[in-house]
Amino acid sequence: MSEEQIKNSRTEHSRSLERQFNERIERDEKIEPKDWMPEKYRKTHIRQISQHAHSEIVGMLPEGNWITRAPSLRRKVALLAKVQDEAGHGLYLYSACETLGISRDELYEQLHTGKAKYSSIFNYPALTWADMGAIGWLVDGAAIINQVPLCNTSYGPYARAMIRVCKEESFHQRQGFEIMLKLANGTQEQKEMAQDALNRWWWPSLMMLGPTDDKSVHTEQSMKWKLKRKTNDELRQQFIDQTVPQADVLGLTIPDPDLKWNEERKSYDFGKIDWDEFWQVVKGHGPMNKERMKARVGAWERGEWVRDAAMAHAEKKQARKEKQAV
Ligand SMILES: [Fe+2]
Ligand SMILES: [Fe+2]
Repeated sequence: MSEEQIKNSRTEHSRSLERQFNERIERDEKIEPKDWMPEKYRKTHIRQISQHAHSEIVGMLPEGNWITRAPSLRRKVALLAKVQDEAGHGLYLYSACETLGISRDELYEQLHTGKAKYSSIFNYPALTWADMGAIGWLVDGAAIINQVPLCNTSYGPYARAMIRVCKEESFHQRQGFEIMLKLANGTQEQKEMAQDALNRWWWPSLMMLGPTDDKSVHTEQSMKWKLKRKTNDELRQQFIDQTVPQADVLGLTIPDPDLKWNEERKSYDFGKIDWDEFWQVVKGHGPMNKERMKARVGAWERGEWVRDAAMAHAEKKQARKEKQAV
């Protein structure tokens, strides 16, 4: 065979692999770590799953900050459980990501050097106890909308991780809503605190569902691979339609004068989102970007002796085993 013929047959082979791969996705079959996959599919999944894992881990910071100041033992237990859940979500997702051939160290390195992104919402500060309510209700609420379709995503390890994650997210959303309900029915001051938290978290929660479809560069390919089942705008509309009646139950006002029920569309029309603010935060200029990174890098550095000790212990154990085998 000439060089040209070898090249052609290789191209033909990879085309046929890609065809089979697309057919499997079409049939809703799960793709597993050892299966053949296009390089772009692998890279896109590393990006998305790691971004998701980083968001879970950085997402612990605004709430972790309030654990010691929770107003009662019951609230403290619930908040502590929630923050621990987020750590667990991060760990499942890092593990799922590692099955695509990237190491945990590389993933952390990408986060710590600012190369990897995480959800923009965690770059806002949690100023009062009511923020614990608003974060659970709105941020975890938006996360559920985003994540439920991912339980059916095409990459097996990601889809399976999401099933458990989603169950826990619904507890997070309810504990947040319950905090809001208590405050909204409390003293005038507590009600104002709840309203203030809603005012500050509403718009960032809408932004959290990602840029509008015409500005979202990855949507089309991700829809084809069933990595995404709904577009950002569809998810955002679903979140708004679901959340407005909940605000009514709380007796709080959504901070959007243009919010109005559209009888024809059977959905809410809503006001303009400040996308400049979104892009500023994504680029690292949000109110808390620097603090969040400092906290993560600090935790990594302070944990060095634990990692070293664990490695030394593992090596000793291995050496002992080898000695016994001889
Ligand atoms: Fe989570
Ligand atoms: Fe959560």
